Amino acid sequence: MSRKALIAANWKMYKTPAEAKAFVEAFLPLVAGHTRDEIALFPSVTSLATVVELAAGSNVSVGLQNMHFAEEGAYTGETSAAMLKAVGATHTLIGHSERRQYFNETDEVVNKKLHTALKHGIVPVVCIGEVLAEREAGKTADVLKTQITGALVGITAEAAAPIVIAYEPVWAIGTGKTATPEMAVEAHKIVRAEVAKILGADVAAAIRILYGGSVKPDNATALLGEEEIDGALVGGASLKADSFAAIAKY
Ligand code: 13P
Repeated sequence: MSRKALIAANWKMYKTPAEAKAFVEAFLPLVAGHTRDEIALFPSVTSLATVVELAAGSNVSVGLQNMHFAEEGAYTGETSAAMLKAVGATHTLIGHSERRQYFNETDEVVNKKLHTALKHGIVPVVCIGEVLAEREAGKTADVLKTQITGALVGITAEAAAPIVIAYEPVWAIGTGKTATPEMAVEAHKIVRAEVAKILGADVAAAIRILYGGSVKPDNATALLGEEEIDGALVGGASLKADSFAAIAKY
C-alpha cells in the first residue's frame, strides 16, 4: 500500500509571529505545486493564527505542538482542541519527547490527548522514541511497544485512520546524530507490527510512521527513500525556509 508522506516542521519554542510570517512568505513559493507529499507546520501558540491565515488555500497544513485533553477548564497555560480548531489549525503533535521529559507527559496523558484529538477531527501526530540508555540496554523494542500500547488504549480500528506516528529516537533529537535508515526502518517495523496487533493489519498497513531526529537536507533522501519511512518530523532544519523546502522536496 502506498502511503502519502507527511513532512512536518516542529518549530518548538522558536519564532515570533513576525518571524513566522517571514518564514511562510518565503516558504510557500518554494513548495508551490508540491503535491507528492503533505506538508505541515507546527508553530508556537502565539504564531498559530498568523501561520494559518498566511497558509490558507495553500498545500501547507498547520497544527499545534501540544493540546490539552480536556474540553475546557481551569488549566492555566493550556490550549484546547476547540481553540485549535477555531483558529483554523488541523493537526496537533502529541507526546513529543520534550513534553514527556520536561512536562511529565506520560503514556496515559498521551492516550487522553489522542482520544480528544480524534473526537474533534484533529490529525494527531503521536511521538514516541527511546532514550540513549534504553537503546544501549537493548530495550528499544520494549520501549516502543509500551509507548504505542499506552497511546492506543481504547482506540478502535474505525477511529484510527487519521493517526500519524512519529518515531523520534531521543538521542537523535537536536544532537546532529541521525538514526541510520536501517535503524529507523527496524524501529518502524516494530511499531507497525505493534499497531497491527492492537488495531489490525489494515490499520497498520495504512498508518503513517514518520522519522524525526536531526533530519537535514543532506540525509532526507536516504531516510525518506525507505518504503517504511512515511515522512519526517523536523526540528532545527525546519526553521529556515530553504532548508525545510529542500527536505520537503527530497
Ligand atoms: P531536530 O530535527 O532538531 O533533531 O528535532 C527533531 C524533533 O524533535 C522534531 O519534533
